[in-house]
Amino acid sequence: MSMEERLAQLEKYRAKILNGGGDKRIAKQHESGKMTARERIEALVDPGSFIEMQVFTGESNLENLENPGEGVVVGQGMIDGRLVYIYAQDFTVSGGSLSKAHADKICKVMDLGLKNGAPVIGLNDSGGARIQQGVDALEGYGNIFYRNTLSSGVIPQISAILGPCAGGAVYSPALTDFIFMVNGVSRMFITGPQVIKAVTGEEVSPEELGGAMTHNSKSGVAHFMADSELDCFAQIRQLVSYLPSNNMEDPPVVAPADPAYDPEELMSIIPDNANQGYDVRDVIERIVDGGSFFEIQPLWAQNGITALARLNGKTVGILANQPKVLAGCLDIDVSDKMARFVRFCNAFNIPLLTFEDVPGFLPGTNQEYGGIIRHGAKMLFAYSEATVPKITIILRKAYGGAYLAMCGKPLGCDAAFAWPTAEIAVMGPDGAANIIYRKEIETAENPIEKRKEMVERYRTEVSNPFIACARGYVEDILDPRETRARLIATLDALANKRESRPRKKNGNIPV
Ligand code: HXC
Repeated sequence: MSMEERLAQLEKYRAKILNGGGDKRIAKQHESGKMTARERIEALVDPGSFIEMQVFTGESNLENLENPGEGVVVGQGMIDGRLVYIYAQDFTVSGGSLSKAHADKICKVMDLGLKNGAPVIGLNDSGGARIQQGVDALEGYGNIFYRNTLSSGVIPQISAILGPCAGGAVYSPALTDFIFMVNGVSRMFITGPQVIKAVTGEEVSPEELGGAMTHNSKSGVAHFMADSELDCFAQIRQLVSYLPSNNMEDPPVVAPADPAYDPEELMSIIPDNANQGYDVRDVIERIVDGGSFFEIQPLWAQNGITALARLNGKTVGILANQPKVLAGCLDIDVSDKMARFVRFCNAFNIPLLTFEDVPGFLPGTNQEYGGIIRHGAKMLFAYSEATVPKITIILRKAYGGAYLAMCGKPLGCDAAFAWPTAEIAVMGPDGAANIIYRKEIETAENPIEKRKEMVERYRTEVSNPFIACARGYVEDILDPRETRARLIATLDALANKRESRPRKKNGNIPV
């Protein structure tokens, strides 16, 4: 063959592969409201930056099969000029099902991501293990899970679920840092509705079982919900903008911006009545850079907030109790949500800012039987383990074990500040007065009035922020309007913080 003939053959094969599963299956993919793998990648990365790798790798024989290539497209691209590695499963080729060659292609970009210190983004759309293959496909999944684990805490790993993902197809995303789902398009389950019906008799629709809303609001498996695939890619780009490319780098710094809302309004957000709730987002958004508040898992465990944001152009990880949901109590789900986020931030050099207004752990048998002891302990563990700069701002209630669990000073917190509204004590004034002033209340002429008096006494004498300040547990009591400036100055001072810990293989966080 001459060079021209060889090039013509190359072009023929390439064109066949770039056409995925063929025109009919591509049309079906579009009809179901989904983009093809290559269209998705183009929409995700900087225009023209994608370079496909291993184009010809696959189980199929190029000459004989109508369906060549493999059900996954892999390569490198750029997001805002920064390198990322990508794999996108192609549902038009064997339903995106995973063969050994398919897994090898995914492993290829995972290895490159780890070696070159760049995030790996997986766009998942797969019917699971290729049923024709048997053990080879399982070997392939195992190779991916192993690499997910090796890369964890070294490079950011991001998964988007863009179709049905069942069986083995859900466990690799579950091992990554963040999962995005598209409303009405994405599904994730270990066993589908038919198997559930056969085994337990339960009837459930695929959407109800494993749709985006289910995993964003009920199970906590997913972190972000998008309205469309394009919205999903825009959100992924936004997430990447906050993150370093690997654990040896600091997060990118951007131009600072003033808060989106007037910090003067911080004077009136916290109600005078300590039993009244408020939206802690209103506080956060008057402190961080305008337009930089990016909430993670906003629909799950809403009694706590986890978010990435920027302060003076630098990425921070925000954790906050949400007093308007369950009074901001800590429960099983919010402990899991917060502990995991603390560990992510610590792995990627993102300082932690904790806004505390917590009356305690949520009481109840379902919490105790569900293991709130084990789950709540994760917060103590994660915060204690974290060596990034840790700053806590006590807005209002800081009671008991929950006071400590929200990055209390003894957990290696670098600086704790209080607002004048702070109440720091073993328990809330209502409960405390009932116990320690019981006799005075019982023997009073008017026990109701006496009780009120004693609650106030406890509040002013015991739970005021000046006592914690006098003991040195709190650095200072801040005028809310000074908070931003003080946080910026404190974070700047902590920029070179180094803390060494005893060497160990791994700690034993109560998972
Ligand atoms: C091989 C598959 C496949 C699979 C789909 N296809 N899943 N081929 N292995 N796992 C093929 C179909 O045969 C079809 O080929 C094409 O992909 C599109 O599939 P459809 O069924 O036409 O599409 P749709 O109606 O949208 O349904 C999608 C689906 C369904 C819900 C994913 O295909 C499905 O239920 N597939 C099987 C899911 C499953 O049980 N996977 C195994 C999980 S166990 P043609 O040629 O007709 O276009 C597992 C174990 C790993 O993953 C454990 C590791 C720990």
